[in-house]
Amino acid sequence: MSSEHKNAAGWRGIIQGYREHLAVGPETPIVSLHEGNTPLIRVPNFVEAIGGAFDLYLKYEGLNPTASFKDRGMTMAVTKAKARGVQVIACASTGNTSASAAAYAARAKMKCVVLIPEGKIARGKLAQALMYGATTLQMPGNFDDALTIVRELCADGAVEVVNSINPHRIEGQKTAAFEICDALGDAPDMHVLPVGNAGNITAYWKGYREYADAGESDTLPRMMGFQAAGAAPFVEDAFIDDPETIASAIRIGKPASWQPAKAALQFSAGAIDKVTDEEILTAYQMITAQEGIFVEPASAAALAGIIKLQNANKITEGSIVVATMTGHGLKDPDNAVEHAKVEATTVEPNLDAVRAAIGL
Ligand code: F0G
Repeated sequence: MSSEHKNAAGWRGIIQGYREHLAVGPETPIVSLHEGNTPLIRVPNFVEAIGGAFDLYLKYEGLNPTASFKDRGMTMAVTKAKARGVQVIACASTGNTSASAAAYAARAKMKCVVLIPEGKIARGKLAQALMYGATTLQMPGNFDDALTIVRELCADGAVEVVNSINPHRIEGQKTAAFEICDALGDAPDMHVLPVGNAGNITAYWKGYREYADAGESDTLPRMMGFQAAGAAPFVEDAFIDDPETIASAIRIGKPASWQPAKAALQFSAGAIDKVTDEEILTAYQMITAQEGIFVEPASAAALAGIIKLQNANKITEGSIVVATMTGHGLKDPDNAVEHAKVEATTVEPNLDAVRAAIGL
């Protein structure tokens, strides 16, 4: 892969970086916030702490412009909507899609309507939708109810849906797999992701396959997805009416990408399993305190999954594993403050009090 793709100084977003793999032409009006080109960080402290003997890398998607992986898909979806002359985009969201849609709509001078489950999205994400200026509608119910309404709202094509049922979203998101192959020199042995609608696991698999077909990589990874135990329709093999989990981003009972995700699992010899909220919180605390990488609870579901696989001896010694950290920890300050292992101590504002407090 040419070095221009890796040059952060000149990076102009995933469409410019990988345009030969995306359906855009010279005239396409690209809407970008220079998303993508995120770091792939090796995390040996975490692997050691869980007793593993493999190489783990985290694709830190929290470092995208709106702090989640959604920006990769949104640059494509909004670019395509703009090319078609659409003036209004809409989405249902557990928070990150709405933040990203709102930002790219602002950039494109479009109107954005977001429909979110009231009281169920993390504070940082709500702040983003409001600050970027989206028409923000909250309603009782969950993500699945909101998506049903958005599908109807967008049925006649006047308003463009930018959820991952929009195929351009998947196209943009597949570029994360390209970046991983570029960084490692080939695909990893295993790729682990948190799963909600299953759009992202579908996108990564598409990316790995296309890169191999184009001769840019030689191997394909095993795709492993993890759902929260209270919101695990793939594991139950049935839709769930009342999904519940502390990882609000993946609080989804009726995944939109059901069929393509099943195909990805089948062809990659992969699987989707579940992890409890307790396991998610443990991984959430570990990765922050041991590696200095702050992710939101949904992302920690992938790490909880890796711990589960390791405990069951299911990760081959010496293998290369990549996990996607889908969103930044700052998205969800309430969970962070509540579940941090450390509390702030109030001290008198003088040196003696500080020395005493730190035991010096
Ligand atoms: N991780 C985070 C941080 C997410 O925000 C999402 C989905 C996922 C994982 C799951 O990805 O749905 O492609 O399987 N968030 C959507 C939203 C539903 O509305 O922001 P998926």
